[in-house]
Amino acid sequence: MTGKVRVMISEAQVNERIKELAEQISRDYEGKHIHLICILKGSVFFTCELAKRLTIPVTIDFMSVSSYGSETVSSGRVRILKDLDESIAGKEVLILEDIIDSGNTLAHLTNLLGTRSPESLSICTLLDKPDRRVTDVDVKYVGFEIPDEFVVGYGLDYDQYYRNLPYVGVVEQ
Ligand code: IMP
Ligand code: MG
Repeated sequence: MTGKVRVMISEAQVNERIKELAEQISRDYEGKHIHLICILKGSVFFTCELAKRLTIPVTIDFMSVSSYGSETVSSGRVRILKDLDESIAGKEVLILEDIIDSGNTLAHLTNLLGTRSPESLSICTLLDKPDRRVTDVDVKYVGFEIPDEFVVGYGLDYDQYYRNLPYVGVVEQ
């Protein structure tokens, strides 16, 4: 895992955009408490950077999911590897995702969490690849729309490596 990485979105650009998102979310949820759900592992970096900049009261919970084998199962159902610790009933819930690709994971996840009676349930993603969408998902906040390239960094991995890069890039062969 020593391939050269071409920078797609620089550290400064990511930080600036997260600051803007945090300002917008703080305005939109003014007077309310927000309950962030960080989807492990990819969204950890994004969650920390965003949460630090929110000016409204924040609570955070974590969930880990894995997609069922995509070649054989087209339904995009996800398996819960780690469920939330706390109930989301009556809470203003914001799911934080690193990237939306086919949309299958989040479509399934929002259906599932929607049955747990949150006051509201919205999605915020750092990256969005709209060209790859298979299942429609209603995304309230998008950091960056990116082309159909496999990206790493800022939490995103290739075979578990590169998550720690402070920017978003593409591994070059
Ligand atoms: P979806 O169900 O196809 O939207 O899957 C989204 C998940 O696939 C993300 O949470 C990532 O874990 C992974 N993923 C999709 N595109 C990329 C990428 O370009 N780099 C790294 N992981 C990706
Ligand atoms: Mg992910």
